[in-house]
Amino acid sequence: MPRLFRRIKEIRGFIRDVKCEGNNVSVGFVPTMGYLHKGHMELIKLSKLQNDITVVSIYVNPLQFGAGEDFDRYPRDLDRDLELCAEAGVDVVFAPSDEEMYQELPITKIEIPGLTDKLEGLYRPGHFNGVAIVVLKLFNIVQPTRAYFGEKDYQQLKVVERLVKDLSIPVEIIPVPTVREEDGLACSSRNVYLSPEERQSALAIYKSFLLAQKLFQGGNTEAALLKQAIREFLLKHPHVSKIDYVEITDENLNPVNEVKEGDRILVAVYVGNTRLIDNWRISHEEV
Ligand code: PAF
Repeated sequence: MPRLFRRIKEIRGFIRDVKCEGNNVSVGFVPTMGYLHKGHMELIKLSKLQNDITVVSIYVNPLQFGAGEDFDRYPRDLDRDLELCAEAGVDVVFAPSDEEMYQELPITKIEIPGLTDKLEGLYRPGHFNGVAIVVLKLFNIVQPTRAYFGEKDYQQLKVVERLVKDLSIPVEIIPVPTVREEDGLACSSRNVYLSPEERQSALAIYKSFLLAQKLFQGGNTEAALLKQAIREFLLKHPHVSKIDYVEITDENLNPVNEVKEGDRILVAVYVGNTRLIDNWRISHEEV
């Protein structure tokens, strides 16, 4: 079983001791909100390969949820997560309480104009402030050498990369490609909200990426055309009740008119009452 820490002071002490005992001990860090899935396991696997010790944090961060969002019903099962961490060979799990993380609610705000105010930021105001605050706090607590973020939350990855660059935070951010179920659905803790019928409809997201990629490969490089095709395809499916956005951007999230290899499709879609996000790197490769 991994060492489980609930208190900031305790994990800080542990990390300090580990770093004192060994020369140049590298610490890999996988921040999560728990309810671990195959995507998290890939992050952990890579961290284990690249570092001497691997720390996983499990904390459903209230600051990144808006009013009326799913904070209360977000799936939580620490025992199950600990088992999975044990199987994966994780060394340390940090699972703080709300009181431990936020003795007082932070009043500092973090904004990255042009990055936190678009896409997810538009539909979830305050979300990236909450993400940035908790990620910075966790970095300051764990002091990792490397930290692992899935490309599934592509905008989050870009926000964290920029924060680290702008604030000279001594950590290397390692992006990890999205892990999909065999049928193409991106792994997400929120997939548990889907009924079997909704889950079937949710596959439309992956299929719409393949459709757009096919159009692109056939010589259609106009972003507006690809976005329209994706929208129409998604809305044909039962349970796809609302589209927040379908956007095509370059790798730094700037919208493009003409699509080229390496650009990203980003979507946020409601399937039933569940809001799913996903993204896709456009390429000439066969899938
Ligand atoms: O991606 C997530 O699970 C969360 O946004 C993160 C990075 C753990 C911060 O709460």
